[in-house]
Amino acid sequence: MFQSDLLKDKVIFITGGGTGLGRSMAQRFLELQAKVVIASRRMEVLKATAHELMSATGGEVLPLALDVRDYKAVESALDQSLKHFGSIDILLNNAAGNFVSPTEALSHKAFDVITDIVLKGSYNTTLAFGKHWIKSRQSARVLNIVTTYATTGSGYVVPSAIAKAGVQTMTKSLAVEWAKYGITMNAIAPGPFPTEGAWDRLLPPGLEAKFIDRIPLKRVGEHIELANLAAYLVSDQSQYINGEVITIDGGEWLKGAGEFNFLDVLSPAEWKAMELQVRKANKK
Ligand code: HXC
Ligand code: NAP
Repeated sequence: MFQSDLLKDKVIFITGGGTGLGRSMAQRFLELQAKVVIASRRMEVLKATAHELMSATGGEVLPLALDVRDYKAVESALDQSLKHFGSIDILLNNAAGNFVSPTEALSHKAFDVITDIVLKGSYNTTLAFGKHWIKSRQSARVLNIVTTYATTGSGYVVPSAIAKAGVQTMTKSLAVEWAKYGITMNAIAPGPFPTEGAWDRLLPPGLEAKFIDRIPLKRVGEHIELANLAAYLVSDQSQYINGEVITIDGGEWLKGAGEFNFLDVLSPAEWKAMELQVRKANKK
């Protein structure tokens, strides 16, 4: 799909890059000749991922222990990355936390833990990196991973929905404010992509088929599909795209939104009966 050197000489900092979609995006970026920093809380996971990705791609990965909720720690991770690679061209805000629960069952701490990782974590990194880029007069790009329910809202994941909506609004706001510094910013809103982190925490047992039935394409997403979209959005080829939120969900959220979409349960005989009913009504 891409020229093999699409991301040559780019250094990409990925929060939560040790697992799931972050890891898959890191792998794709490395295949396209980028260098990557993967940063999250569990250093042993990051080290194992870095080792596997370097063996698989021949690229260079710097694993860094980081809790994105801690602004000073973010500044220190940025410094360490600059010391190692010389510059950072792209920030990918991918780290997140989530659990499914009736909202009234949540403690205020449960709300804090999710919104702190997702919203505070994303503005901490964006602010620290943005200040650095502006001061050093370097153009740069930010890509934020949100969700489709950042726009629609969703019950049972309310702290996550609130926080992702904040990240989405940050994307649109700073895309305009920081364009004058050569910093552009976009977001991807994925539908369901199986990962250990999301699936174990979010899918009530036995309900996978129900999830898939809601998707017009009748399948979940493949990591490579999202990773290719991310590669395009961090590459120089997409520089004129700024402030966009690109959905990749097989049409899932639109299916839930369209007034008559539920009619796909009708059989051919029921459609015929429907047509006769309409034609009869037209003659009145
Ligand atoms: C209600 C819960 C809870 C649950 C924890 N809490 N789990 N409340 N239901 N299932 C409460 C605790 O009781 C505590 O409140 C507070 O939350 C904080 O608990 P901690 O012990 O600090 O947190 P812990 O449970 O250790 O970890 C929570 C977490 C963890 C940090 C969010 O799950 C994590 O590391 N997640 C990262 C990976 C992840 O979530 N990936 C999924 C991303 S998918 P009290 O008051 O009792 O102290 C995604 C979108 C998917 O974002 C969309 C799919 C289509
Ligand atoms: P995942 O594997 O659980 O990824 C979450 C990552 O965030 C982990 O690597 C975790 O690493 C890191 N993280 C959590 N708290 C952190 C903190 N305080 N500081 C630094 N890193 C932290 O789940 P995923 O499914 O790949 O999710 C990746 C992104 O896609 C998330 O933004 C998620 O909201 C989004 N998304 C996923 C889906 C899906 O279906 N999978 C759908 C829509 C959106 P540590 O534990 O080592 O810190």
